[in-house]
Amino acid sequence: MAEYTIKVRRFQPESGQGPYWEEFNVDLDPSLSVLDGLLQAKDKEDGSLAVRCSCRAAICGSCGMKINGQSGLGCKTQIGEAQEQANKMVAATGVTAAVADSPIRGEDPSGVGGTGEPIVIEPMGNMPVIKDLITDMESTHWTKIRRVTPWLLPHGEPPEREYIVEPESMIDITQSMACIQCGACVSSCLSMEADHDFIGPAALAKAYRFVGDPRDAETRERLHDLAHDPHGIYDCTHCFSCIDACPKGVAPMDQIMRLRRKAGEEGIEDPNSGHDHEIAFVKIIEKKGTLDESLLLQESFAPGLKGKLKPNKRAIREMLGSIPTAIRGIKTGKMRSLHKLIPGVHPKLPDQDDVKAIYKHAEEHNEELNLYIRGEEGEDALPDGAAAEEVTNG
Ligand code: SF4
Ligand code: SF4
Ligand code: FES
Repeated sequence: MAEYTIKVRRFQPESGQGPYWEEFNVDLDPSLSVLDGLLQAKDKEDGSLAVRCSCRAAICGSCGMKINGQSGLGCKTQIGEAQEQANKMVAATGVTAAVADSPIRGEDPSGVGGTGEPIVIEPMGNMPVIKDLITDMESTHWTKIRRVTPWLLPHGEPPEREYIVEPESMIDITQSMACIQCGACVSSCLSMEADHDFIGPAALAKAYRFVGDPRDAETRERLHDLAHDPHGIYDCTHCFSCIDACPKGVAPMDQIMRLRRKAGEEGIEDPNSGHDHEIAFVKIIEKKGTLDESLLLQESFAPGLKGKLKPNKRAIREMLGSIPTAIRGIKTGKMRSLHKLIPGVHPKLPDQDDVKAIYKHAEEHNEELNLYIRGEEGEDALPDGAAAEEVTNG
């Protein structure tokens, strides 16, 4: 057994007060979970401490929360590991996650305790807080899940019994099927912080579950819908945060990239120029070894031209609309010299052998493996039946 201090961000709406921090001392075996610590504090110190949980085994998805600033499941995070993480964070930054993230009432300005730093526990982000650690999953999570039509849309008469498919044809979607709807990815999504209407990682991972399902007959319509929505697949900024947060290895960002790839393969032109933006990015890096941002803008909206704009009204409108962003870039020092605003002026990197090698490797290995099922590239294939077993256990 060991003693831990958990520092919980509390919010009691009936009090009429804003959120505040409260510390509890708990006594637990390090192998037990952060959720166990919270339940002990609730049992022994304050029965009004609100936390949602059910299975206590990383299955039901109820206990999403932020622990030391990182979104995850309370029942899957060992309290001993959370303590180590809290100590490391203070050693590296001098402050706890409470100070780093949340300037709220009752804050200890130093944020630093004794040898065992407090383990900071907060409700999930990007969602309204109902009470203490309980968030409103309906408004931001379930509404978005329903947005992607999370059920099969097959054509024709349904079979007398079940739809029969080859097991191999389902392998690609097993990763997205492992989702337990905990919302940890939504909580950690940086795009959603800026755009609350972004459909988001969990719902888009769910969308891929049906786009990749051989029984679904509306694949193109689904992709068209998600590509044309200004808050859809092209609103993700590739930050990897949802991959880190997901307790079930769903890797929502990878599912979003699969949706994008499939939309590209279907030749779906989106009004956000998201697909053209990706192509432009790849093309410019291949050519220059570095990102020429002004060329990126031009190539995204008027692809195929060098150094001048296609006389296309939309491209001109988008370029003009980006001027405030460019000015902000100059003011903040991101863009240091004015001449770099001129498309094509940004210099090439002198030696691009490594970049060329990366492109060559990518071209030679363009078959996508779903690593969730098949293991690392180059490993022996799993024996027959092993994939299914891993799926069941995943
Ligand atoms: S990778 Fe995309 S979906 Fe995932 S957290 Fe970042 S912005 Fe959100
Ligand atoms: S994708 Fe992962 S983090 Fe997101 S809701 Fe599903 S299980 Fe939770
Ligand atoms: S209590 Fe069920 S996932 Fe944590």
